Amino acid sequence: MSKKSKIIVTGGLGFIGSHTVVELFSEGYEVIIVDDLSNSSIDILKGITNIVKSDIIFEKIDLKNKISVKELFNKHKDISGIIHFAASKAIGESVIEPLKYYENNLGSLINILQEIENLNTNISFIFSSSCTVYGQALNLPIKEIESIKKAESPYGNTKQIGEEIIEDFCKSYNKIKSISLRYFNPIGAHPSIEIGELPIGKPENLIPFITQTAIGKREKLIVFGNDYPTQDGTCIRDYIHVIDLAKAHIKALERVLNPEQKSNYDVFNIGTGKGYSVMEVIKTFEKVSSHKLNYTIGPRRKGDIIEAYADTKKANKILDWHAKLSLEDAILSAWKWEKKLQEL
Ligand code: UD1
Repeated sequence: MSKKSKIIVTGGLGFIGSHTVVELFSEGYEVIIVDDLSNSSIDILKGITNIVKSDIIFEKIDLKNKISVKELFNKHKDISGIIHFAASKAIGESVIEPLKYYENNLGSLINILQEIENLNTNISFIFSSSCTVYGQALNLPIKEIESIKKAESPYGNTKQIGEEIIEDFCKSYNKIKSISLRYFNPIGAHPSIEIGELPIGKPENLIPFITQTAIGKREKLIVFGNDYPTQDGTCIRDYIHVIDLAKAHIKALERVLNPEQKSNYDVFNIGTGKGYSVMEVIKTFEKVSSHKLNYTIGPRRKGDIIEAYADTKKANKILDWHAKLSLEDAILSAWKWEKKLQEL
Protein backbone atom coordinates (compact mmCIF):
# COMPACT_ATOMS: atom_id res chain seq x y z
CA MET A 1 0.00 0.00 0.00
CA SER A 2 1.36 3.43 -0.85
CA LYS A 3 2.14 5.61 2.13
CA LYS A 4 -0.38 8.32 2.93
CA SER A 5 0.27 11.37 5.12
CA LYS A 6 2.43 11.39 8.21
CA ILE A 7 0.42 11.68 11.41
CA ILE A 8 1.53 12.25 15.00
CA VAL A 9 -0.58 10.40 17.56
CA THR A 10 -0.08 11.77 21.06
CA GLY A 11 -1.02 9.32 23.77
CA GLY A 12 -0.52 6.66 21.11
CA LEU A 13 0.20 3.94 23.67
CA GLY A 14 -2.99 4.64 25.62
CA PHE A 15 -6.23 2.72 25.27
CA ILE A 16 -7.91 4.59 22.41
CA GLY A 17 -4.63 5.90 21.01
CA SER A 18 -3.11 2.45 20.48
CA HIS A 19 -6.18 1.15 18.66
CA THR A 20 -6.23 4.25 16.49
CA VAL A 21 -2.54 3.80 15.63
CA VAL A 22 -3.33 0.30 14.34
CA GLU A 23 -6.24 1.56 12.21
CA LEU A 24 -4.15 4.44 10.82
CA PHE A 25 -1.37 2.07 9.93
CA SER A 26 -3.71 -0.36 8.20
CA GLU A 27 -5.08 2.55 6.16
CA GLY A 28 -1.55 3.32 4.94
CA TYR A 29 -0.73 6.34 7.10
CA GLU A 30 2.76 6.84 8.44
CA VAL A 31 2.44 7.11 12.20
CA ILE A 32 4.60 8.68 14.89
CA ILE A 33 3.58 7.66 18.37
CA VAL A 34 4.21 10.20 21.11
CA ASP A 35 3.68 9.12 24.71
CA ASP A 36 5.28 9.91 28.06
CA LEU A 37 4.39 6.47 29.49
CA SER A 38 2.87 8.18 32.54
CA ASN A 39 -0.33 6.17 32.22
CA SER A 40 0.59 3.57 29.62
CA SER A 41 3.02 0.73 29.11
CA ILE A 42 5.78 0.21 26.59
CA ASP A 43 4.41 -3.35 26.18
CA ILE A 44 1.58 -1.82 24.16
CA LEU A 45 4.16 -0.76 21.55
CA LYS A 46 5.13 -4.42 21.22
CA GLY A 47 1.43 -5.34 20.88
CA ILE A 48 0.98 -2.74 18.14
CA THR A 49 4.03 -3.93 16.21
CA ASN A 50 2.83 -7.54 16.52
CA ILE A 51 -0.45 -6.53 14.89
CA VAL A 52 0.91 -4.30 12.14
CA LYS A 53 4.04 -6.40 11.61
CA SER A 54 6.22 -3.36 11.21
CA ASP A 55 8.22 -1.02 13.41
CA ILE A 56 6.58 2.28 14.28
CA ILE A 57 8.42 5.42 15.31
CA PHE A 58 8.00 6.08 19.02
CA GLU A 59 8.97 9.33 20.74
CA LYS A 60 8.90 9.36 24.53
CA ILE A 61 8.00 12.97 25.18
CA ASP A 62 6.39 14.92 27.96
CA LEU A 63 4.15 17.35 26.08
CA LYS A 64 4.08 19.74 29.05
CA ASN A 65 7.69 20.49 28.22
CA LYS A 66 7.71 23.26 25.59
CA ILE A 67 11.28 22.54 24.50
CA SER A 68 10.53 18.85 23.90
CA VAL A 69 7.45 19.75 21.86
CA LYS A 70 9.51 22.18 19.78
CA GLU A 71 12.12 19.48 19.16
CA LEU A 72 9.41 17.02 18.15
CA PHE A 73 7.98 19.40 15.58
CA ASN A 74 11.44 20.34 14.28
CA LYS A 75 12.18 16.67 13.74
CA HIS A 76 8.88 15.93 11.97
CA LYS A 77 8.23 19.10 9.96
CA ASP A 78 6.54 17.10 7.20
CA ILE A 79 3.53 15.97 9.23
CA SER A 80 0.01 16.49 7.86
CA GLY A 81 -1.91 15.89 11.02
CA ILE A 82 -2.06 15.26 14.73
CA ILE A 83 -4.48 13.14 16.69
CA HIS A 84 -4.23 14.38 20.24
CA PHE A 85 -5.16 11.80 22.87
CA ALA A 86 -2.51 12.51 25.49
CA ALA A 87 -4.30 13.60 28.67
CA SER A 88 -4.96 12.55 32.23
CA LYS A 89 -8.40 11.00 32.52
CA ALA A 90 -9.25 9.90 36.05
CA ILE A 91 -12.24 11.93 37.18
CA GLY A 92 -11.72 11.28 40.90
CA GLU A 93 -8.04 12.16 40.78
CA SER A 94 -8.85 15.37 38.91
CA VAL A 95 -10.97 16.55 41.84
CA ILE A 96 -8.08 15.93 44.25
CA GLU A 97 -5.34 17.30 41.96
CA PRO A 98 -7.05 19.85 39.71
CA LEU A 99 -3.83 21.70 38.83
CA LYS A 100 -2.24 18.52 37.54
CA TYR A 101 -5.19 18.17 35.15
CA TYR A 102 -5.20 21.78 33.98
CA GLU A 103 -1.44 21.75 33.48
CA ASN A 104 -1.28 18.37 31.81
CA ASN A 105 -4.37 18.50 29.63
CA LEU A 106 -4.39 22.17 28.71
CA GLY A 107 -0.68 23.01 28.94
CA SER A 108 0.15 20.20 26.51
CA LEU A 109 -2.61 21.25 24.14
CA ILE A 110 -1.37 24.84 24.06
CA ASN A 111 2.24 23.75 23.51
CA ILE A 112 1.16 21.68 20.50
CA LEU A 113 -1.03 24.42 19.01
CA GLN A 114 1.84 26.91 19.34
CA GLU A 115 4.13 24.59 17.39
CA ILE A 116 1.41 24.08 14.78
CA GLU A 117 1.37 27.84 14.31
CA ASN A 118 5.17 27.93 14.07
CA LEU A 119 5.10 25.22 11.38
CA ASN A 120 3.04 27.50 9.19
CA THR A 121 1.85 24.64 6.94
CA ASN A 122 -1.62 23.11 6.56
CA ILE A 123 -2.38 20.87 9.52
CA SER A 124 -5.26 18.62 10.49
CA PHE A 125 -5.98 18.24 14.17
CA ILE A 126 -8.28 15.73 15.87
CA PHE A 127 -9.08 16.26 19.54
CA SER A 128 -10.25 13.65 22.06
CA SER A 129 -13.24 15.13 23.75
CA SER A 130 -15.94 13.49 25.80
CA CYS A 131 -19.69 13.27 26.23
CA THR A 132 -18.97 14.51 29.73
CA VAL A 133 -19.28 18.05 28.25
CA TYR A 134 -23.08 17.58 28.14
CA GLY A 135 -23.53 16.63 31.81
CA GLN A 136 -27.06 15.31 32.30
CA ALA A 137 -28.53 16.28 28.95
CA LEU A 138 -32.12 17.46 28.85
CA ASN A 139 -32.75 15.74 25.52
CA LEU A 140 -32.01 12.13 24.64
CA PRO A 141 -30.45 10.87 22.46
CA ILE A 142 -27.84 13.61 22.82
CA LYS A 143 -27.22 15.77 19.77
CA GLU A 144 -24.15 17.96 19.30
CA ILE A 145 -26.36 21.05 19.67
CA GLU A 146 -27.26 20.03 23.23
CA SER A 147 -26.16 22.72 25.67
CA ILE A 148 -22.85 22.35 27.46
CA LYS A 149 -23.24 22.20 31.25
CA LYS A 150 -20.86 23.39 33.92
CA ALA A 151 -18.36 20.54 34.21
CA GLU A 152 -18.73 18.16 37.16
CA SER A 153 -14.98 17.70 37.49
CA PRO A 154 -11.69 19.40 36.56
CA TYR A 155 -11.19 16.57 34.05
CA GLY A 156 -14.51 17.40 32.36
CA ASN A 157 -13.62 21.08 32.45
CA THR A 158 -10.34 20.41 30.62
CA LYS A 159 -12.35 18.81 27.81
CA GLN A 160 -14.73 21.79 27.61
CA ILE A 161 -11.92 24.35 27.74
CA GLY A 162 -9.82 22.27 25.35
CA GLU A 163 -12.61 22.40 22.77
CA GLU A 164 -12.92 26.17 23.23
CA ILE A 165 -9.18 26.71 22.90
CA ILE A 166 -9.14 24.78 19.62
CA GLU A 167 -12.22 26.52 18.26
CA ASP A 168 -10.74 29.95 19.06
CA PHE A 169 -7.40 28.97 17.57
CA CYS A 170 -9.11 27.74 14.37
CA LYS A 171 -10.74 31.18 14.02
CA SER A 172 -7.42 32.98 14.33
CA TYR A 173 -5.17 30.64 12.32
CA ASN A 174 -6.43 29.58 8.92
CA LYS A 175 -3.97 26.76 8.20
CA ILE A 176 -5.51 24.40 10.75
CA LYS A 177 -8.61 22.29 10.29
CA SER A 178 -9.86 20.51 13.35
CA ILE A 179 -12.52 18.17 14.67
CA SER A 180 -13.35 17.39 18.30
CA LEU A 181 -14.78 13.92 18.82
CA ARG A 182 -17.01 13.56 21.84
CA TYR A 183 -16.67 9.95 22.89
CA PHE A 184 -19.34 8.14 24.81
CA ASN A 185 -18.07 5.10 26.81
CA PRO A 186 -15.20 3.34 25.02
CA ILE A 187 -14.74 -0.34 25.91
CA GLY A 188 -13.31 -3.55 24.46
CA ALA A 189 -9.99 -4.60 22.97
CA HIS A 190 -8.42 -5.39 19.63
CA PRO A 191 -9.61 -8.78 18.24
CA SER A 192 -5.98 -9.98 18.16
CA ILE A 193 -5.88 -9.40 21.97
CA GLU A 194 -2.46 -7.83 21.44
CA ILE A 195 -3.68 -4.48 22.83
CA GLY A 196 -6.45 -3.41 25.20
CA GLU A 197 -7.18 -1.24 28.21
CA LEU A 198 -4.54 -1.15 30.95
CA PRO A 199 -5.99 0.66 33.96
CA ILE A 200 -3.33 1.60 36.48
CA GLY A 201 -4.44 0.80 40.02
CA LYS A 202 -8.10 0.37 40.84
CA PRO A 203 -10.22 0.96 37.74
CA GLU A 204 -12.87 3.69 37.89
CA ASN A 205 -14.69 2.47 34.79
CA LEU A 206 -17.31 -0.25 34.73
CA ILE A 207 -15.94 -2.76 32.21
CA PRO A 208 -12.40 -3.12 33.58
CA PHE A 209 -13.90 -3.36 37.06
CA ILE A 210 -16.18 -6.17 35.92
CA THR A 211 -13.43 -8.13 34.16
CA GLN A 212 -10.99 -7.66 37.06
CA THR A 213 -13.67 -8.89 39.48
CA ALA A 214 -14.44 -11.93 37.36
CA ILE A 215 -10.76 -12.86 37.09
CA GLY A 216 -10.32 -12.52 40.85
CA LYS A 217 -8.28 -9.29 41.07
CA ARG A 218 -11.19 -7.54 42.83
CA GLU A 219 -13.52 -9.08 45.34
CA LYS A 220 -16.76 -7.69 43.99
CA LEU A 221 -18.30 -5.02 41.85
CA ILE A 222 -20.42 -2.38 43.54
CA VAL A 223 -23.26 -1.21 41.35
CA PHE A 224 -23.46 2.50 42.07
CA GLY A 225 -27.16 2.85 42.83
CA ASN A 226 -30.30 1.07 41.61
CA ASP A 227 -32.81 3.75 42.49
CA TYR A 228 -32.43 5.91 39.39
CA PRO A 229 -35.48 6.65 37.24
CA THR A 230 -34.54 4.05 34.58
CA GLN A 231 -36.14 0.71 33.68
CA ASP A 232 -34.12 -1.30 36.22
CA GLY A 233 -32.97 1.61 38.41
CA THR A 234 -29.33 1.59 37.24
CA CYS A 235 -27.62 4.24 35.10
CA ILE A 236 -27.62 4.07 31.33
CA ARG A 237 -24.59 4.66 29.09
CA ASP A 238 -23.66 4.28 25.44
CA TYR A 239 -20.80 1.75 25.36
CA ILE A 240 -18.82 1.89 22.14
CA HIS A 241 -16.28 -0.67 20.95
CA VAL A 242 -12.82 0.90 20.85
CA ILE A 243 -12.33 -0.43 17.29
CA ASP A 244 -15.39 1.48 16.07
CA LEU A 245 -14.15 4.52 17.95
CA ALA A 246 -10.66 4.22 16.43
CA LYS A 247 -12.19 4.06 12.95
CA ALA A 248 -14.11 7.27 13.64
CA HIS A 249 -10.73 9.02 13.99
CA ILE A 250 -9.74 7.89 10.50
CA LYS A 251 -12.98 9.26 9.09
CA ALA A 252 -12.55 12.55 10.94
CA LEU A 253 -8.96 12.81 9.76
CA GLU A 254 -9.93 12.11 6.15
CA ARG A 255 -12.44 14.92 6.35
CA VAL A 256 -10.02 17.53 7.62
CA LEU A 257 -7.22 16.36 5.30
CA ASN A 258 -9.50 16.91 2.31
CA PRO A 259 -8.59 20.28 0.76
CA GLU A 260 -12.14 20.57 -0.63
CA GLN A 261 -13.47 20.63 2.91
CA LYS A 262 -14.03 24.26 3.90
CA SER A 263 -15.27 24.08 7.50
CA ASN A 264 -12.25 24.39 9.75
CA TYR A 265 -13.81 23.34 13.06
CA ASP A 266 -16.56 20.91 13.96
CA VAL A 267 -17.65 18.52 16.73
CA PHE A 268 -19.12 15.03 16.46
CA ASN A 269 -20.61 12.58 18.92
CA ILE A 270 -19.07 9.14 18.70
CA GLY A 271 -21.28 6.50 20.29
CA THR A 272 -23.52 3.65 19.16
CA GLY A 273 -26.78 5.50 19.70
CA LYS A 274 -28.02 2.81 22.08
CA GLY A 275 -28.01 2.97 25.86
CA TYR A 276 -27.54 0.02 28.21
CA SER A 277 -28.04 -0.04 31.96
CA VAL A 278 -25.36 -1.22 34.37
CA MET A 279 -27.47 -4.34 35.05
CA GLU A 280 -27.74 -5.06 31.32
CA VAL A 281 -23.97 -4.78 31.03
CA ILE A 282 -23.51 -7.22 33.92
CA LYS A 283 -25.98 -9.68 32.36
CA THR A 284 -24.24 -9.39 28.99
CA PHE A 285 -20.88 -10.03 30.62
CA GLU A 286 -22.24 -13.11 32.40
CA LYS A 287 -23.67 -14.41 29.13
CA VAL A 288 -20.61 -13.93 26.93
CA SER A 289 -18.10 -15.09 29.56
CA SER A 290 -20.21 -17.85 31.13
CA HIS A 291 -19.06 -16.44 34.47
CA LYS A 292 -21.26 -15.49 37.42
CA LEU A 293 -20.19 -12.03 38.53
CA ASN A 294 -19.92 -11.19 42.22
CA TYR A 295 -21.70 -7.87 42.66
CA THR A 296 -23.81 -5.97 45.15
CA ILE A 297 -25.88 -2.84 44.96
CA GLY A 298 -24.24 0.13 46.67
CA PRO A 299 -24.98 3.83 47.02
CA ARG A 300 -24.98 6.23 44.10
CA ARG A 301 -21.60 7.61 42.97
CA LYS A 302 -21.34 11.37 43.35
CA GLY A 303 -21.48 13.19 40.02
CA ASP A 304 -22.92 10.25 38.04
CA ILE A 305 -25.45 11.21 35.44
CA ILE A 306 -28.57 9.09 35.04
CA GLU A 307 -28.66 8.47 31.35
CA ALA A 308 -26.49 9.31 28.33
CA TYR A 309 -26.53 7.97 24.80
CA ALA A 310 -25.58 9.59 21.55
CA ASP A 311 -27.52 10.82 18.60
CA THR A 312 -25.01 9.71 15.97
CA LYS A 313 -26.77 11.09 12.88
CA LYS A 314 -24.24 13.87 12.37
CA ALA A 315 -21.26 11.49 12.38
CA ASN A 316 -23.19 8.92 10.29
CA LYS A 317 -24.01 11.48 7.62
CA ILE A 318 -21.07 13.87 7.53
CA LEU A 319 -18.24 11.49 8.45
CA ASP A 320 -19.88 8.47 6.81
CA TRP A 321 -19.07 6.58 10.00
CA HIS A 322 -21.23 3.96 11.71
CA ALA A 323 -20.62 1.91 14.84
CA LYS A 324 -20.74 -1.71 13.68
CA LEU A 325 -19.74 -3.84 16.66
CA SER A 326 -22.14 -4.95 19.38
CA LEU A 327 -22.00 -4.71 23.16
CA GLU A 328 -21.43 -8.50 23.18
CA ASP A 329 -18.43 -8.15 20.82
CA ALA A 330 -16.95 -5.41 22.96
CA ILE A 331 -17.43 -7.15 26.31
CA LEU A 332 -16.15 -10.47 24.99
CA SER A 333 -12.98 -8.82 23.67
CA ALA A 334 -12.46 -7.03 27.00
CA TRP A 335 -12.83 -10.37 28.79
CA LYS A 336 -10.35 -12.13 26.49
CA TRP A 337 -7.91 -9.26 27.11
CA GLU A 338 -8.30 -9.59 30.89
CA LYS A 339 -7.61 -13.33 30.64
CA LYS A 340 -4.53 -12.65 28.54
CA LEU A 341 -3.23 -10.14 31.11
CA GLN A 342 -3.46 -12.82 33.78
CA GLU A 343 -1.32 -15.19 31.73
CA LEU A 344 1.50 -12.66 31.31
C1 UD1 B 1 -16.82 8.36 32.88
C2 UD1 B 1 -16.66 9.85 32.76
C3 UD1 B 1 -16.48 10.28 31.34
C4 UD1 B 1 -15.41 9.48 30.67
C5 UD1 B 1 -15.81 8.02 30.75
C6 UD1 B 1 -14.88 7.10 30.02
C7 UD1 B 1 -18.06 10.69 34.62
C8 UD1 B 1 -19.22 11.55 34.97
N1 UD1 B 1 -17.81 10.54 33.32
O1 UD1 B 1 -18.05 8.04 32.39
O2 UD1 B 1 -16.12 11.63 31.30
O3 UD1 B 1 -15.27 9.92 29.35
O4 UD1 B 1 -15.85 7.67 32.11
O5 UD1 B 1 -13.69 6.91 30.68
O6 UD1 B 1 -17.42 10.15 35.47
N2 UD1 B 1 -20.35 1.86 37.64
C9 UD1 B 1 -20.68 1.03 38.69
N3 UD1 B 1 -19.69 0.46 39.43
C10 UD1 B 1 -18.36 0.67 39.15
C11 UD1 B 1 -18.01 1.51 38.06
C12 UD1 B 1 -19.03 2.09 37.34
O7 UD1 B 1 -21.86 0.81 38.96
O8 UD1 B 1 -17.49 0.14 39.88
C13 UD1 B 1 -21.41 2.48 36.82
C14 UD1 B 1 -21.42 3.99 36.89
O9 UD1 B 1 -22.21 4.44 37.94
C15 UD1 B 1 -22.00 4.33 35.52
C16 UD1 B 1 -21.53 3.20 34.61
O10 UD1 B 1 -21.16 2.14 35.47
O11 UD1 B 1 -23.38 4.28 35.57
C17 UD1 B 1 -20.36 3.58 33.76
O12 UD1 B 1 -19.36 4.13 34.59
P1 UD1 B 1 -17.92 4.51 34.04
O13 UD1 B 1 -17.35 3.38 33.29
O14 UD1 B 1 -17.14 5.06 35.20
O15 UD1 B 1 -18.18 5.64 32.97
P2 UD1 B 1 -19.01 7.04 33.09
O16 UD1 B 1 -19.26 7.37 34.47
O17 UD1 B 1 -20.16 6.98 32.18
